[in-house]
Amino acid sequence: MIELFNVKKFFGEVRAVDGLSFKILRGEVFGLLGKNGAGKTTTIKMLTLQLKPTAGEIFFEGRTIQGNEIFIKNLLGVVPQHLNFDQDLTVEENLELHGRLHHLKKSERRERIDELLKFVELEKVRKSFVRALSGGMKRRLLIIRALIHRPKILFLDEPTVALDPQVRRKIWELIKNLKARGISIVLTTHYIEEAEFLCDRAAILNRGKLVALDTIKNLCAGQSLEEKFIALTK
Ligand SMILES: Nc1ncnc2c1ncn2[C@@H]1O[C@H](COP(=O)(O)OP(=O)(O)OP(=O)(O)O)[C@@H](O)[C@H]1O
Ligand SMILES: [Mg+2]
Repeated sequence: MIELFNVKKFFGEVRAVDGLSFKILRGEVFGLLGKNGAGKTTTIKMLTLQLKPTAGEIFFEGRTIQGNEIFIKNLLGVVPQHLNFDQDLTVEENLELHGRLHHLKKSERRERIDELLKFVELEKVRKSFVRALSGGMKRRLLIIRALIHRPKILFLDEPTVALDPQVRRKIWELIKNLKARGISIVLTTHYIEEAEFLCDRAAILNRGKLVALDTIKNLCAGQSLEEKFIALTK
């Protein structure tokens, strides 16, 4: 579904991503793990066309980025690491705005917004300002906003950071639910148990390089994933 060939991103002297080659398969939940500064967000930004690689190639469904930007943007949904709503708009207005950005027709927008609000149980706050929502509600809103145009691949950069255990479980359920609906998912996380619970496969990055890529089952074989992670990312 997505293929990377020796992808690099340098910021001056900083080699944020330093030669990544791997595939993300259709229908899987793919985890990107690594310490702070390992290059996870930079990788996600390149895979969602927010950053241009310094070198290397990325293919989406066999197509290069150049000349296929619209096709690729329609394929992708992006849940950023940091909340980037207009907090002075209501929940509904934020979704409406995003639907317009994706050129959905008015009737289509209405229908999709109703469906998504119901999906994450946010119907009651549809008229509330975003700034008045709890952290967990904001996260769920951020996720459904990324789903408005029915993307086939959803990117989630640390989707459960700073959430209480109950809300985290709800987000996990939501992610499982999306996978069951056939959406491929790429997520980053610092929570090893989250990767174990959600991911089919995971890549471990260290200083911009791939140090492991396997099924969660294989990564957990012999020693715990946490122990392996610590040993690989010293
Ligand atoms: N716009 C930028 N300009 C300069 N350096 C950058 C920029 N973006 C990222 N970097 C650097 O690239 C490296 C990788 O950063 P990145 O944000 O990809 O890490 P990360 O794995 O997402 O970390 P975290 O777990 O803290 O979110 C870091 O050294 C960071 O300081
Ligand atoms: Mg990051």
